[in-house]
Amino acid sequence: MDMAIDTTAPIIIGCDHAAFPLKEKIIVFLKGLGIEVKDAGTFSQESVSYVDYGKKVAKAVSEGEYSRGILLCGTGLGMSMVANRFPRVRAALCSDIFSVRMSREHNDSNILVLGGRIIGDALAFELVRTWLETPFEGGRHLDRIKSLETSV
Ligand code: RB5
Repeated sequence: MDMAIDTTAPIIIGCDHAAFPLKEKIIVFLKGLGIEVKDAGTFSQESVSYVDYGKKVAKAVSEGEYSRGILLCGTGLGMSMVANRFPRVRAALCSDIFSVRMSREHNDSNILVLGGRIIGDALAFELVRTWLETPFEGGRHLDRIKSLETSV
């Protein structure tokens, strides 16, 4: 399995106030890997709605402006609810390595969602690294993710 990180595709990242400190650290981590980062905000710990920032990132991924994104709020729950309303977005809220890996191999997740009040910095970095390293398996999983786009 190819475990190389694609440093050519930029990443759009967004958060609310609850996860602002972790977002800043993840940006530094991503830049250290040589990845270009578009910061969609928020830019301080002043209280904001996760919906506004989740929409910015999810819209950019949904429309193909960015192929991958990262969203953070206190729990990650609100951000994942927002993001998964957008066509072609497969946002995965993860706090363990196995789920992150599966979200890439089986679900081709294109947005990683993290809870800034749930996980520590070191785990967050490993989750991001694993998410970036793990390719989509394709095969039987391709039809499944395609069928996500059909109406219920
Ligand atoms: C903000 O207090 C909090 O509600 C938000 O960060 C997030 O956890 C929502 O799902």
